[in-house]
Amino acid sequence: MNIKADVSGRLHKGRFKAMSKRHQDGSAGDANYGVIGKGYASYRQPEPRIAEFIQHALGDARTILNVGAGAGSYEPVDRSVVAVEPSASMRAQRPAHLPPAIDAVAERLPFADKLFDASMASFTVHQWSDLAAGLVEMRRVTRGPVLVLTCDPHELTRCWLNDYAPEVIAVEARRYPAMSEIAKGLGGAVDILAVPIPLGCVDGFSEAYYGRPERILEPGARLANSAWSFVDQSVGARFAADLSRDLANGTWDVRYGGLRTQPFFEGSLRLVVAK
Ligand SMILES: C[S@@+](CC[C@H](N)C(=O)[O-])C[C@H]1O[C@@H](n2cnc3c(N)ncnc32)[C@H](O)[C@@H]1O
Repeated sequence: MNIKADVSGRLHKGRFKAMSKRHQDGSAGDANYGVIGKGYASYRQPEPRIAEFIQHALGDARTILNVGAGAGSYEPVDRSVVAVEPSASMRAQRPAHLPPAIDAVAERLPFADKLFDASMASFTVHQWSDLAAGLVEMRRVTRGPVLVLTCDPHELTRCWLNDYAPEVIAVEARRYPAMSEIAKGLGGAVDILAVPIPLGCVDGFSEAYYGRPERILEPGARLANSAWSFVDQSVGARFAADLSRDLANGTWDVRYGGLRTQPFFEGSLRLVVAK
């Protein structure tokens, strides 16, 4: 795809809202991927059963913009994709078979109006410094569907994690925008699809571990979920101690053991689609 990015339209220091200060590696959201992002791709792979929802919603779009693309999860490989990612650490983790990402931010996309058939943003809108601006930009550069894969902040307490790390869930609930805010930013009419999380989900966002609690005891698994970087380190230590104890003495299994074999978990994951 021959896309011309207006590089002069990129975000420059002082040309954007004060909140949009970028970290040293270029990270433009509330999380610093120069610090937390290095092992991201080892824990956050695209989950095929979630990818199916995205593929379906993309319809017959041939040219796609992926905003906040990170290491490229959920980017279709059978279509022409342009990726935008402000963090150098995340851009560096893109596998060789995906196109290199452009250094830009959602709030100021360096593309002409209606350039893409479709656009997508997965697990990123909660980090943007100006959600409304980013969504308006996605709508502006897209002819067809705009897809946002995110979590509904009102459904986050469904998972047992809330019993062990309520501080982390509270952080998430504050960061994830309400579905109504996303709808508003995208111009009003949207479809909101609940996306069931499969057991063994290879994309390690927090709820992906609903039936595999041992996995989230790994510090790297928590690091790949930015919410943990917003709570005191003592919360992670307490969480790991409490969960390890309850796994060892069987308390976790008495309470939640059924989840170990439950094929899907209806958590907070949502795909918002503006046609
Ligand atoms: C949790 S990662 C998700 C990456 C990828 N979309 C995925 O599904 O694995 C969030 C990404 O959003 C990016 N991001 C944060 N603020 C952004 C902004 N204002 N504009 C574009 N991307 C942003 C971060 O740099 C990071 O790579």
